[in-house]
Amino acid sequence: MGEGVLTDAYARRDGALYCEGVPAEEIAREAGTPAFVYSASVIRDRYLKLTGALGGVPHRVHYSLKANSNRAVLKLLRQMGAGVDVVSGGELFRALRAGFSGRDIIFGGVGKTERELREALQADVKLINVESEAELRLLSHIATELGVTAPVGFRINPEVAVANAHAFIATGSKGHKFGIPFGDAIGAVRTALKLPNIRILGLDMHVGSQLSTFDPYRAGLARMAELASEMVAMGTTLKFVDIGGGLPVSYGEGASDPDLDNYATLITPAIKALGAELLVEPGRFFTAASGVLLTRVLYRKQSGGKTYVIVDTGMTELLRPSHYSAYHLIEAVKPNGARLVADVVGPVCETGDFLALDREMDDVAPGDLVVIHTTGAYGYVMSSNYNARPKAAEVVVDGDRYAVVTARESYEDLVRLEQDNPTWRTA
Ligand code: LLP
Repeated sequence: MGEGVLTDAYARRDGALYCEGVPAEEIAREAGTPAFVYSASVIRDRYLKLTGALGGVPHRVHYSLKANSNRAVLKLLRQMGAGVDVVSGGELFRALRAGFSGRDIIFGGVGKTERELREALQADVKLINVESEAELRLLSHIATELGVTAPVGFRINPEVAVANAHAFIATGSKGHKFGIPFGDAIGAVRTALKLPNIRILGLDMHVGSQLSTFDPYRAGLARMAELASEMVAMGTTLKFVDIGGGLPVSYGEGASDPDLDNYATLITPAIKALGAELLVEPGRFFTAASGVLLTRVLYRKQSGGKTYVIVDTGMTELLRPSHYSAYHLIEAVKPNGARLVADVVGPVCETGDFLALDREMDDVAPGDLVVIHTTGAYGYVMSSNYNARPKAAEVVVDGDRYAVVTARESYEDLVRLEQDNPTWRTA
């Protein structure tokens, strides 16, 4: 992994933190806390760097919108020329709402329902990455019923060794639930060739997230090449090779952003040899470093020799620390120069509700604003209403302008779907 590619959108002026040209303090005043703040320039910059690095081969970037599916973020990426990768009917709906057309959309996911497959076909998506023979048969059946041809990619499990940040985000090793087991892939192709209304277009893999080396791509591509030559011998042509997402980002001390030239050097010859268009599906690479979670300190207290900093956000907005033991850099918007060691915790009634444990950080007092960095991906999208906490606001900053692009939920929103007078039926 090489030098960082991040445009540093979060810098200090006169000791106070800004997002691009906007003081964090002003955003907190207007949008309240907790709020997710995203820098548009970071997203654009990263898009340009990745498409630039992959310039040697025909390719398309399909942003994995599970990382952050905010409509404003999606529009920004669409305007840059990105397509998207979706994994549910809801994500497909969000993508279409943000102005993407079917041709911009790859539909993936290990458990697609009949309804979702139908919706994907009706939206005329570019590619449906199929994960089992049973799914293939269902898709063929629905496509026949609709009188269309299903554009199929085979998501295979390349069964390669993956070293990454946490076991929960590894996906491409033997025995994982994702993809068609490598040894079954050719059988699935044979089945597809016999089924009506199926057009074989590609091969797909996603070896995991937050990859600490690019070796899994190399190994996975080699395995895809093995399958590709067998498939060609069976009379199919491969239009697309989709290598998934997984580009890592730096979450703070010790890590650095991926070396995109290395990534491209590794991938390009394999793609050229396959003679297909390269599809990539990174999610966090675009949005993680664009975002911070802006929160306010509520209290400080001592317990059992520990210092607790209690803030107005928690696992309901940012699950990553408690779910993956993830590290996110935390700093004061206006540091006073002193340091402390504390557990930074939220208001949720769970001992697992923490943002950082035993963290050396800026000294902060009740009322101070704090930012939790690198939270633009897998932050808001993984949030919940546990403890009846309304979802946070989302703000996009672009230069010296900013807008609340998702309003904070109200208490009314929490009960919106509950029926005052439910219809009781008798069995
Ligand atoms: N393509 C497929 C098929 C995927 O399953 C994923 C992520 C991606 C692309 C995008 O991966 P990325 O480039 O963002 O690493 N919630 C976890 C991450 C789960 C990722 C699931 N799949 C986290 O907070 O780290």
